[in-house]
Amino acid sequence: MFFKQYSNADGTLSYFYGCGSKGSAVAVDVVAGDERWFLDAAQKAAVRIDFVIDTHVHADHLSGGKKLAELAGGLYCLHESDVGKVHFPIRGLKDGEVLESGNVLTKVLHTPGHTADSICLLVSDLRRSADPWFVLTGDTLFVGGVGRPDLGGAPEEMAGRIFDSIHNKLLTLPDDLEIFPGHAAGSVCGAGLSGKPSSTMGFEKRWDPYLSMTDRDAFIRELTANIPEQPAEMARIVAANLGAAA
Ligand SMILES: [Fe+2]
Repeated sequence: MFFKQYSNADGTLSYFYGCGSKGSAVAVDVVAGDERWFLDAAQKAAVRIDFVIDTHVHADHLSGGKKLAELAGGLYCLHESDVGKVHFPIRGLKDGEVLESGNVLTKVLHTPGHTADSICLLVSDLRRSADPWFVLTGDTLFVGGVGRPDLGGAPEEMAGRIFDSIHNKLLTLPDDLEIFPGHAAGSVCGAGLSGKPSSTMGFEKRWDPYLSMTDRDAFIRELTANIPEQPAEMARIVAANLGAAA
């Protein structure tokens, strides 16, 4: 497989990976204006971009996902709960479903909390093992932190949903699994993020203070006490990403 992490100026991390031998690729969390980078990378690797996935409808930046999917002829994908909310056709992803890109498999994990539609993507390379090799955690789990719970309103309820997503889904994954998050330090999507753009599940279990909290109410209190300022122009950005604005 091939794998690239693309670091945008505002602390957003995008991903491009897939199967070189079967010519199929996946682009994740593409920022508007970066579409050309993905098209060039696909051309260099001689792959089709079959799937363009946003891990949630972003509130902090304009997505380039829909435009890249149109330019590349791939499917633009969001969690199935966004079908009917976005003002254009998408491929709705279900919890547990697996997308095939040649020898590379992407399994969808619905992990609500940062937003109701947040997903993580568990990736395997069948040339190595059917076991997952890494997980793209979007804005659910960061290196050194977790996603902010307040952007869709009801921060306490959503903080509880992050706790459940972490304990029921992410903490069941093996310690040697690599983590690639949707942001590094400099983002407003979470507090306390490291500048290091990847980690492992085992390291984060030991050193991410939120992952060692086993009391749900204490987790909710802590997470809602440390909410960064809301992203500038959030309402306009969300509306544009939903296709409700030009
Ligand atoms: Fe986000």
